[in-house]
Amino acid sequence: MKEILIVLSGGRAKGNTAQLADAFMKGAVEAGHHVELVSLNKMQVNGCLGCNACRYGKRCVQKDDFHSLIPKIKKADLMVFASPLYFWTISSKMKAFIERFYCIAEEDENPPFGRYERYPVRDCAFLMTAADNYFWTFEQAASYYQFTLVNYIGFHDKGMLLAGGCGDTNGKPEITKTNHLQNAYHFGKAIYDGSSTDGTLL
Ligand SMILES: Cc1cc2nc3c(=O)[nH]c(=O)nc-3n(C[C@H](O)[C@H](O)[C@H](O)COP(=O)(O)O)c2cc1C
Repeated sequence: MKEILIVLSGGRAKGNTAQLADAFMKGAVEAGHHVELVSLNKMQVNGCLGCNACRYGKRCVQKDDFHSLIPKIKKADLMVFASPLYFWTISSKMKAFIERFYCIAEEDENPPFGRYERYPVRDCAFLMTAADNYFWTFEQAASYYQFTLVNYIGFHDKGMLLAGGCGDTNGKPEITKTNHLQNAYHFGKAIYDGSSTDGTLL
């Protein structure tokens, strides 16, 4: 049994991304994992101010909901980042949330090349929805996930589900017309059963 934290960021309340995250959650719960979903839409998480107070032993100066998420981040075995594609990348809410990892970094006396501090390291996965479905639709978002969360912070990649062709937001969510929800369910169910290949692109 693993502790799974799904961070949903942006998107409509019952939109494509929320449905994708729910389908993943259903599969993971059925596989016996404990899953918590937090929606950044319902909380206030600001981007980093770069004040560097945290680098001098102080608690992050911002009085927002990120503080309540820190224990959840530290407890999780797997963090799932779920976002709609906005202007070819992750939502601003997701970006703000990731920036705040800065204040939970710890000093690393011997950092690997290209990294300056130590982060709470766990597994991660990435769920996205978009209107378009071209071969390049998710290129920037997937690259950001790989570069920032996997290469830089050091998470262990458990895979991405890039759900294109879900329709635009000028109408009802159309994800049910695709097979992405079934894929998300199976992704969640199989994530720790040894049958999925880490780093899979679904
Ligand atoms: C501000 C905004 C920007 C968007 N940018 C893109 C984009 O760059 N590429 C794309 O394919 N879809 C884009 N979309 C469409 C959404 O990614 C797509 O409809 C998504 O599934 C909406 O998620 P939701 O149903 O969870 O709200 C954008 C939608 C909005 C509202």
